[in-house]
Amino acid sequence: MHFPGRFSENFVAGQLDRVSLSFLVDDLDVRRGGVAANIAFTLGVLGRRPILVGAVGADFADYRSWLERHGVDCSGVLTVETAHTPRFTCTTDDEQCQIASFYPGAMDRSADIALQPIVHGRDVALVLVGASMPEAMLAHTAQARALGIPFAADPSQQLPRLDADQCRDLVDGAAYLFTNEYELQLLLRKTGWAERDLTARVGLRITTLGAGGSLIVDNAGHETRVAAVPPKAILDPTGVGDAFRAGFLVGLDSGLDSEASAQFASLVATAVLESTGAQEWTLEPDAGLARLADAYGRPAAERIEPVLREALAAPAVLS
Ligand SMILES: Nc1ncnc2c1ncn2[C@@H]1O[C@H](COP(=O)(O)OP(=O)(O)OP(=O)(O)O)[C@@H](O)[C@H]1O
Ligand SMILES: [Mg+2]
Repeated sequence: MHFPGRFSENFVAGQLDRVSLSFLVDDLDVRRGGVAANIAFTLGVLGRRPILVGAVGADFADYRSWLERHGVDCSGVLTVETAHTPRFTCTTDDEQCQIASFYPGAMDRSADIALQPIVHGRDVALVLVGASMPEAMLAHTAQARALGIPFAADPSQQLPRLDADQCRDLVDGAAYLFTNEYELQLLLRKTGWAERDLTARVGLRITTLGAGGSLIVDNAGHETRVAAVPPKAILDPTGVGDAFRAGFLVGLDSGLDSEASAQFASLVATAVLESTGAQEWTLEPDAGLARLADAYGRPAAERIEPVLREALAAPAVLS
């Protein structure tokens, strides 16, 4: 929502312990989101068959149908009839100040979901553990280890809620660790690990640097820096990190090396930056290739071309 004015003009000094405010807003925009759904959506649109795992409320039917039409398998979703699907509500004023609330709702029950019956009989290449209730994140990481399925650690927004042992537990032995720069520093501080200790404990460490691109560090400490794909306009940054993750994993799964995968991921992230919301982006193969060539040179674009064409050849919307 948008409040045409300034929040700060409505707080009365000396009366803050009795705050009673209602802001008449001039805009309400309802968008699909959630880290797991965002990542799964982009994997689905890029031709993969992700299985979404998470807890939702009785109101999920429309969202389920949207995700399924975009290639997401929702059979790992737990529906809690007595709760609502998690929801983030945010009002921004004219100064870009924000007042927001996050209602976890059904998310409280996500630790009740067991991975074993979901992956049973399926060829699951990777479990990505994103931000959720800490108990669920820990349980699903432990289950992936026990099942012998490689896992990606992507704790993002939940890092402040995790203690040192929990942080170590979520990350140790991960095939991939995704963070942004700030989250990496927070993780290092919380775990007490030096950067080289962290490096040795994960397969690949991917740190996104916003407009600065991304940094990939392999297990031996070898660093690769990948520039971002410059956006034509920034409409809405929500979900860029999620899009990057999905693009990167599709790149690797298609046989690209980590540098080319990050270049492909940057193109997908920029498509999200140029659209409103996290699940409204579009990408056209020829235009995408031209932008890859501009950002990384023609040989790099040619390496990515078959992957890009194949990923986008899958029907984006299933009937
Ligand atoms: N201003 C920008 N210009 C170009 N690319 C960007 C920009 N911001 C983000 N990106 C792309 O998106 C990727 C992820 O961005 P960022 O590091 O901001 O993630 P994040 O902080 O996790 O974002 P969020 O959690 O809000 O989705 C970057 O590595 C880059 O490729
Ligand atoms: Mg993020």
